[in-house]
Amino acid sequence: MKGILLAGGSGTRLNPMTIPVSKHLLPIGDKPMVYYPLSALMLAGITDILVISTEADLPHYRRLLGDGSQLGIQIDYAVQDEPNGIAEALIIGAEKIGDDPVALILGDNIFHGAAFQSILEENVRNVHGCVLFAYGVKDPERHGVAEFDEAGRLVSLEEKPARPRSNRAVTGLYLYDNDVVDIAKNVRPSARGELEITDVNRVYLERGRARVVDLGRGFAWLDTGTPQSLLQAGLYVRTLEERQGVRIACIEEVALRMGFIDSDACHRLGAAMANSAYGQYVMAVAQELAS
Ligand code: DAU
Repeated sequence: MKGILLAGGSGTRLNPMTIPVSKHLLPIGDKPMVYYPLSALMLAGITDILVISTEADLPHYRRLLGDGSQLGIQIDYAVQDEPNGIAEALIIGAEKIGDDPVALILGDNIFHGAAFQSILEENVRNVHGCVLFAYGVKDPERHGVAEFDEAGRLVSLEEKPARPRSNRAVTGLYLYDNDVVDIAKNVRPSARGELEITDVNRVYLERGRARVVDLGRGFAWLDTGTPQSLLQAGLYVRTLEERQGVRIACIEEVALRMGFIDSDACHRLGAAMANSAYGQYVMAVAQELAS
């Protein structure tokens, strides 16, 4: 399965912070936001990833993540000229996707939960059509919303409905079979001029090929869209990390635990950042897991 990480857009709700810096490079706790969705793809076992951003911002992602080989993965880059909609990522990424299924993740989505890795592994193996991940929220009108019938079957998908039919938000992680490229190419721009990912998902729903996994209450799906939610996400991460002494979305640790790199390589990555607590953590993890 290929991975696409969409980190474009203008992030205007976070101005002035996002005037010089891409939103997805802003810190959440002690690491850039993009580490969280990147680690989600890695935890799913995906090692071939396309990062999409604006032409102005891509050099910063390249500087941060390189070609991915230091993490034992491959990272390529592509430009989205204008924020024409999330579904455009699937068209931009068509060549990268090739004949494979694909996981698309939005660069501002943070997932955290004990069973996340097993949920990912199970569903990545099983993509016939599309797999969406739903999460109960108190403001569903700000998201894509999934509605279910009494038997728990998915019956509708709506993008930011004024009157949501449920509190189940569709999160920004989507698993698709290879049909998605053709489907995305045939989606028409919405009233706000975007190729909506919800329209792509609705095609799967109409074909009876959309499945929704409920992430449940014991899970955290965090928002980073406003200065307040950005700060809250950072505090959530810091609280857990300080209490537990482990780090969330430490991409070097994920690479090591997934077997993409060995402990020597992980230690070298930490040593290059030894002046920071993050770098010291990476070195400590490498030492702990050295066999
Ligand atoms: O976060 C989940 C939600 O994401 C879903 O529930 C919605 O169905 C989906 O439409 C999307 O809604 P948002 O309002 O959060 O989308 P937003 O325009 O804020 O974009 C989400 C991320 O994708 C953001 O980090 C910027 C990036 N993006 C967005 C667009 C439209 C791009 O890189 N390019 C784009 O063209």
